[in-house]
Amino acid sequence: MKIEFQDIRSADAEALASLNTASFPTAWGERWSAGDVKSALSMGGVRARAAKADGSAKSDPLIGFVLARQVMDEAEILLIGVDTQFRRQGIGQKLLEDFFKDAKSRRIRRVFLEVRECNEAARALYRKLGFITVGQRPGYYRNKAGKTAPALTLERRI
Ligand SMILES: CC(C)(COP(=O)(O)OP(=O)(O)OC[C@H]1O[C@@H](n2cnc3c(N)ncnc32)[C@H](O)[C@@H]1OP(=O)(O)O)[C@@H](O)C(=O)NCCC(=O)NCCS
Repeated sequence: MKIEFQDIRSADAEALASLNTASFPTAWGERWSAGDVKSALSMGGVRARAAKADGSAKSDPLIGFVLARQVMDEAEILLIGVDTQFRRQGIGQKLLEDFFKDAKSRRIRRVFLEVRECNEAARALYRKLGFITVGQRPGYYRNKAGKTAPALTLERRI
């Protein structure tokens, strides 16, 4: 599928929050409200990019997004998700490739992220794109029921 990318501004916070809700399992408790998205975007160095089907109307929904924070020459990917209906069509990969290109132009040298150890789909995506495991964080995630899950810290050089 051909897709195009766009920067997400605070006016798109509602759309990004809905997509985030559609992307993450409810039990993980990763649901950001539009207010959470707006406040993240107002922080220095935070940027979000989203994917749309090429040629779709302006009002058509976003199908994938990545939200990241830059500090000096490093960036941390805070959230990435693809609408369940559009999975396994290369959108997550294209979003990250777009992110790396943009990161390079911003002189980012290293990208970090945390991923649930049990998140096989995301781990396979990151592996394919050259991320390596640099740390383990037991109990890093806490779901809505209060249960914790371990995370891995991954790094990729740009
Ligand atoms: C992880 C996620 C973003 C992947 O998005 P996607 O658009 O489906 O991924 P892509 O189609 O670009 O896949 C690229 C590669 O990733 C790997 N991959 C993606 N999903 C996979 C799955 N379910 N099982 C195994 N490998 C998978 C494959 O290597 C794939 O390449 P291939 O299709 O040539 O085999 C998506 O599953 C998602 O939104 N998950 C919920 C949110 C989430 O977990 N975010 C990450 C938090 S750290």
